[in-house]
Order: sequence, then structure tokens, then C-alpha cells
Amino acid sequence: MGSGEICALVDLDIHVVGGDFIAIMGPSGSGKSTLMNIIGCLDKPSTGQYLLDGKDVLNLDENCLAGIRSSKIGFIFQTFNLIPRMNALNNVEMPLIYNGHPKGKERIMLAEAALESVGLSERIYHKPNELSGGQQQRVAIARALVNNPSIILADEPTGNLDFSTGEEIMNIFLKLNRDGKTIIMVTHDEAVGHNANRIVRLKDGRIIYDGKPS
Ligand SMILES: Nc1ncnc2c1ncn2[C@@H]1O[C@H](COP(=O)(O)OP(=O)(O)O)[C@@H](O)[C@H]1O
Ligand SMILES: [Mg+2]
Repeated sequence: MGSGEICALVDLDIHVVGGDFIAIMGPSGSGKSTLMNIIGCLDKPSTGQYLLDGKDVLNLDENCLAGIRSSKIGFIFQTFNLIPRMNALNNVEMPLIYNGHPKGKERIMLAEAALESVGLSERIYHKPNELSGGQQQRVAIARALVNNPSIILADEPTGNLDFSTGEEIMNIFLKLNRDGKTIIMVTHDEAVGHNANRIVRLKDGRIIYDGKPS
């Protein structure tokens, strides 16, 4: 829009090892969400290469990308993005439905187990607007986990939560990471970012720091 072209990401080179916990930080407009969308196979860069598990994903068609997203990647957002008219359990069932799990007891049990793993075994028949922010984010994490992805992508997961609720959510992330999940999380909050093993700082679409939290 307006004058000239905006390069959301420039000369970006990043290598993520399985099992890492990375915080992506930087001011608004620095390219964090664009990077997450590329990593999550929701967007493609205009030039460059992206290898996921050694496979060049930029040549894949939309069907293959959808398959990768639903089996390998769990997404978590600042605004939870739950479906308002569905209760917590049904929200968590959605990715199972997309992955072809037939209706029935097993599907419900998988959704219940995911909710239980994030500490939510009560209120699972309530709709999002009947749950607190922290509970809604737990439902969203359960939904991200239910297909057992190896990668969790979280864009400002604590941005809408108070401090102590944010800490509870971070404790869930730390446990998931200990259990072997690769976590890539965008945050504005230095304290939240310091939960990660590695911080990547962006400015104007470029990496200006990549290393241990400091
Ligand atoms: N769909 C879009 N069309 C045009 N420009 C965009 C679009 N999305 C983001 N941008 C621009 O790309 C840059 C990076 O945006 P974004 O990745 O959303 O940053 P962040 O998440 O760090 O706030 C910004 O200059 C933004 O205005
Ligand atoms: Mg953003």
C-alpha cells in the first residue's frame, strides 16, 4: 500500500533444531508474525528456501501444506481463536475431525486427554465466553496438542493474560518442551522470553541477535 515495497523479512537465515525452545522478539512491525506464518506453512516467502524436516516445503501444493500443518504443527494465538459456539471439548476435537478421526468415543477421549494434559478436566462442556482467559488459552493449547505435533508455534500466547496466568501458561510450555516438543514463541515480554533457551531478536525484518537469553 502507498509508497514502495515493504520487505517484511530481509536476509533472514535461521536454523531450528528439534526440541529447542525459541523466543522471537522485536518491536511491532519487525516481521515476527510473518516469520511465524512462514514457519507454520501459512505463508510463503517471495524468495528463499524453507526446509522442514529436510523437505523443501515451498514447492508443495496447498493440500500437502494443509497436511503438514495438521500433523506436524500446533498453533497458539494471543486471542485464543476458539470457536465461540462450541464448548471446550468440541473445540479441541476440531483438529481430529480435520485429520479424519471418525466421530465416537475414541475421538472424545483424545480431546479429553489433551485437555487434562493442560490441567483442564473441569468446565470442558463450557463455551469459551464462560471460561477465563487462562482457561481459554489452555483449551487452545489442548487443541494445538491433540494431533500430537512435534512443533508448537505460539504468537504472543500470554499477550492477553495477567502476569500470574501468563506464568501458568509458560509452565505448560516448559513442560511440553521437556517432553520433547519444539517451541517457537513470539513475545514482547522479556520475562516471558527468558523461559526460552534461545532468543531471536528481529528489527526491520532482520535478525539483530540470535543466542542465549541475555
Ligand atoms: N498482509 C500484509 N500486507 C502488507 N504488509 C504487511 C502485511 N502483513 C504485514 N505487513 C507488513 O510487514 C511488516 C512485518 O509485519 P509483521 O510480521 O506483522 O510484524 P510483527 O508481527 O513483528 O508486528 C510490517 O511492516 C507490516 O506492516
Ligand atoms: Mg505480530
